[in-house]
Amino acid sequence: MSSAHAQEKGIAETFDDLAHDRCCKYKSNGLTASSQVLLDFISKKGLIGKTVMEIGCGTGFFALETLRNGASSCVGVDLSSAAIKEANAFAKESGLEDRARFEVANAASTRQPASDVVVMDKVLCCYPDADALLKTASESSKELLGFVVPRDEGLMKPPMKIGAALINLVEKLRKTGFRLYLHPLRSIDRLLSESGFQQSDKAKSRFWLVYLYKRSGPALPERE
Ligand SMILES: C[S@@+](CC[C@H](N)C(=O)[O-])C[C@H]1O[C@@H](n2cnc3c(N)ncnc32)[C@H](O)[C@@H]1O
Repeated sequence: MSSAHAQEKGIAETFDDLAHDRCCKYKSNGLTASSQVLLDFISKKGLIGKTVMEIGCGTGFFALETLRNGASSCVGVDLSSAAIKEANAFAKESGLEDRARFEVANAASTRQPASDVVVMDKVLCCYPDADALLKTASESSKELLGFVVPRDEGLMKPPMKIGAALINLVEKLRKTGFRLYLHPLRSIDRLLSESGFQQSDKAKSRFWLVYLYKRSGPALPERE
């Protein structure tokens, strides 16, 4: 097995194991503070009638929240088949299955449908190749691109680096394929600027940074 395939399998297995608990946690507590900020950022720009694509959708609750807040349809992809199973079941349970589609896919290596809004909520930090995910996201987003990443800046930088190193040591000892990645924020911003996006909103929670970028360059070319 190639190392890229082994990495993909390791991430999928980690989130397969967590899928049911993550869905139950959302059902009892709702969105986390950082996810709620991301949803508010997008809603303020106008979510009514928009199409949404969520990369690394997990059990789909964020994408389904966008439907409850006025989006017309959503598509979610994730490496974890257990999470996608939960997402489709939850869409059905919520009576939203006609407007929601969840599928297993590696968004770093597959093209995704063009959508008004693209989101990646705590996904870049779970995948080694941030550029590949950002490329897919920017090539899919017609208007907005929102994401949540670890708060790896300012005074939080040293504790984040130590925290990530400890988590990765534990994951290595447990022989899982999961690793936490702190991708440089400057590289993310540069790649998005080069792809025609400009930062429009930013917020901090205790451990996370929430960003919303807006397409400022040429419109996304029509696809057949
Ligand atoms: C920390 S979880 C976040 C899930 C969800 N966004 C949430 O906030 O609950 C990260 C998710 O990203 C998915 N993921 C990581 N890399 C991915 C990739 N290249 N393509 C699709 N999904 C990916 C993982 O399988 C996992 O479900």
